[in-house]
Amino acid sequence: MSKTRIGVIGTGYVGLVSGACFADLGYQVTCLDIVPEKVEKINKGIPPIFENGLGELLLDVVLDRKLLKATLNRREVLDNSDVIFFALATPSGEDGSINLDIMVNEATAIGEELRTIDDYKVFVVKSTVVPGTTSGVITKALESGGKKLGKDFGIAMNPEFLMEGVAIDNFANPDRVVIGSNDDRSYEMVEELYSTFTCEKMKTSTSAAEMIKYASNSFLALKVSFINEIANMSEKLGIDVGDVARGIGLDVRISDKFLRAGIGFGGSCFPKDVKALNYLSQDLNAASKILPGVLEVNKQQPLRVIELLEKHIEIKDKRIALLGLAFKPETDDMREAPSIIISDKLIEKGANVVGYDPIAKESAKIAVPDIKHVNSVDEALKGADAAILVTEWKEFRKLNADNFRLMNGKIVIDGRRILNWQELIDKGFTVKVIGQSIP
Ligand code: UDX
Repeated sequence: MSKTRIGVIGTGYVGLVSGACFADLGYQVTCLDIVPEKVEKINKGIPPIFENGLGELLLDVVLDRKLLKATLNRREVLDNSDVIFFALATPSGEDGSINLDIMVNEATAIGEELRTIDDYKVFVVKSTVVPGTTSGVITKALESGGKKLGKDFGIAMNPEFLMEGVAIDNFANPDRVVIGSNDDRSYEMVEELYSTFTCEKMKTSTSAAEMIKYASNSFLALKVSFINEIANMSEKLGIDVGDVARGIGLDVRISDKFLRAGIGFGGSCFPKDVKALNYLSQDLNAASKILPGVLEVNKQQPLRVIELLEKHIEIKDKRIALLGLAFKPETDDMREAPSIIISDKLIEKGANVVGYDPIAKESAKIAVPDIKHVNSVDEALKGADAAILVTEWKEFRKLNADNFRLMNGKIVIDGRRILNWQELIDKGFTVKVIGQSIP
């Protein structure tokens, strides 16, 4: 029996990584996008996004093994695929609710195409959608051309748990594969794609699979906001929150993961997913009491570095250096980055802000246009009255007094708890760290 052919709708962080990794497993993959430049780049083996290892992987599967191609043509994807993954954006609406327009519009267009397609296809939602979406509006949209779920096509929900920066490894070595489906044939066709994976493959309903994704991201975000609250208390109690995180993390029921205190979570997932689940809870008349707290802590946390800074200098007319701008290391992604909140507040207070990020240069110029963008740490620090470490890039871990001596001032705020505070203090710097009370 020939290998299942795979289609991927959307070539963003999830779609392109998933498509390339399936191709790496030997599947023929056809990716659909609506941006010609993206399609062109992918077909030359060039990733349109920054993701560690994706360049090499695309060169291999696109140019060498000719297993992956991108196209603007929806019909080409449908005619050349048996299992088609939806990996389209599901952004937050103004009120925090999920916006499904992109997904529903695409599914409706596919429903139209299905009128003239007779062979059985399985459509798999990989995008993060609120519980009830796959069996609800997506199914309805796919049936809009007259074909029937079960008879003419199948549907499943297979959430992704990819962290930016390590997404390829996350795909290849997942803790679990979750497959939500309401019929065996769809489940089996999706499960077969993961047959070489050794982890548990969990079969459940589409709605449960959707909820697993939201509950997973919301719980991880909760851990971050929880340790940040503990950090804020620790500072006032003369406690090192790193000790607290280590002490609770030794409990296997808690684990030491996602307990790094700092300036909070950003990215395209945690904020969006916690808001959407919170909104859904209200919609269900089961309003969450925890999720609003997770969001409120996270909204305030980036401003903690401003609070620490203002204890030592008047911000107005000062030159403040931001080290790191991306929402986290190993990505150029600026979506919901804490650096945006921090730079806006500094500018509002009359500071001249200069920022450096080793990777998120172009994306940062768009996301934080009103700061001065420079190309090195030393350029950022030169003449600055204070420095704030915003993103814990590896290269910042080895910064020392020689770097910070380039500043006019002596104040260093460590928003991600990675600097060698004692060395800087010994060399006469004033160092303030989230979750650390330094006299
Ligand atoms: C997350 C989920 O981890 C992933 O499973 C899902 O598929 C997509 O969303 P990602 O957003 O790429 O992945 O980043 P992640 O590494 O999870 O970090 C999320 C945010 O939390 C970042 O802003 C990070 O700085 C912050 N964080 C994470 C902390 O502040 N402390 C921690 O201990 C861990």
